Amino acid sequence: MREKAADVNPKDIKAGKLRPLIDDMIETMHAYEGVGLAGPQVHLPLRIFVFEVEEKVAKRRGIPKLGAGVFFNATYEPVGRETITDWEGCLSVPFLGGEVPRFKKVRLRGLDHEGAAVEMEVDGFTARIFQHEIDHTEGHVYLDRMPDLTTLGYTIVL
Ligand code: NI
Repeated sequence: MREKAADVNPKDIKAGKLRPLIDDMIETMHAYEGVGLAGPQVHLPLRIFVFEVEEKVAKRRGIPKLGAGVFFNATYEPVGRETITDWEGCLSVPFLGGEVPRFKKVRLRGLDHEGAAVEMEVDGFTARIFQHEIDHTEGHVYLDRMPDLTTLGYTIVL
């Protein structure tokens, strides 16, 4: 969890070798009703993360829907300096949540499910998810991004 994960070989992505792994990660994410999951969280020290915000989760949490997907070797950089502070939790830090400032808008660069290079700008809660998951691949958890730990508290998510 605290180590920087290794790059995935694009040839392995193109050959479809990672498909079973991606399916497993999406299944695990669903099982915990998460909106993202990164390799290091499932003892896989690779720069990979999956994401999805299903309709029922989007409604319950008041966040935008997001189709299921995966990125490899992804990095982000802020677009502008504006930040938004919002509530976050993490499957690897169970039962806790806290307020985390994140860049409102970021540019993501990485590889998609076919190993093709992707560059995209995202904002709002989608940008938050991507920042949280890419942080995992660099050995960070959201607690590292909290300037004020007094907002850390127990969540009641059963
Ligand atoms: Ni997390």
